[in-house]
Amino acid sequence: MLEIKDAVAVVTGGASGIGLAFAKYWVKRGGRVLLGDVSVPALEAAKASIGDAAEIVACDVTCEADNQRLAQTAIDAFGKINLVAPFAGIIKDGLMLAPDRETGKVVSKMSLDQFRAVVDVNLTGVFLTVRECAEQMINNGDRGLICLVSSTGSLGTAGQINYSSTKAAVSVMPKVITAEFFRRGVADRIRCVAVAPGYVATPILEGMNQKALARILENVPIGRLIEPDEIASLVCELYRNEALTGDVYFIHGGLRLGSKG
Ligand SMILES: NC(=O)c1ccc[n+]([C@@H]2O[C@H](COP(=O)([O-])OP(=O)(O)OC[C@H]3O[C@@H](n4cnc5c(N)ncnc54)[C@H](O)[C@@H]3O)[C@@H](O)[C@H]2O)c1
Repeated sequence: MLEIKDAVAVVTGGASGIGLAFAKYWVKRGGRVLLGDVSVPALEAAKASIGDAAEIVACDVTCEADNQRLAQTAIDAFGKINLVAPFAGIIKDGLMLAPDRETGKVVSKMSLDQFRAVVDVNLTGVFLTVRECAEQMINNGDRGLICLVSSTGSLGTAGQINYSSTKAAVSVMPKVITAEFFRRGVADRIRCVAVAPGYVATPILEGMNQKALARILENVPIGRLIEPDEIASLVCELYRNEALTGDVYFIHGGLRLGSKG
């Protein structure tokens, strides 16, 4: 079992929602964090609320150089990386094609920008953060975990072809990364998993169709949104327990998975 005390986590999307809640949870248990985010005022507020155990760095995860700086800052500030938590993510929901209910003709479609923006942050951004931070971990001889965030959307949610596609892609990464690390003899010290939450009470949900969200919530057996601390608790257990690697861990309050066809 790994100890959280003195362990160093690099968290993108660390200025809000799950990333911020996780950072606070981790620090309360003796860990230290480097928070990266595009929102600098929110990062500064996060630092003020966490204190000396947190460092911050402006980072757009879609930018290769920003991810390199993020990983290097963790080493410069703390000397090691034990947990990589690339939690930055966005949604830009919409139907791929929307035929008019009366005429049957397509009246709108998802733009290329709307598709690409989500791929850039949720998929390419995750790849870059993980690649840069894991390189530092390997070269530095560090031990720990890469914990990705997929979603129940990985199983297919109507209105989210961009988001669902990125989360499905992220959910295959633990297998790929674990297999690659196994081949090169580092899988025993650097593990990789993903958590796949259902609907969590964070600002990202404000970008969803609220009627659709209310209908989804009627089908959540625990009868409420997941709390960010409940995700943080799972991530901490995945970090501590070194038997856990190469897989995706769902946390959704019993939600029926996937859109009805
Ligand atoms: N809230 C949910 O219901 C839910 C469910 C499943 C998965 N997730 C995933 O959890 C992760 C965190 O989401 P959240 O709910 O905390 O959302 P959130 O909107 O509260 O936080 C996301 C953070 O990412 C940052 N961000 C956005 N684009 C960025 C970029 N290019 N570079 C760096 N930072 C960027 C934002 O500034 C924000 O601080 C996301 O990957 C999301 O897809 C959330």
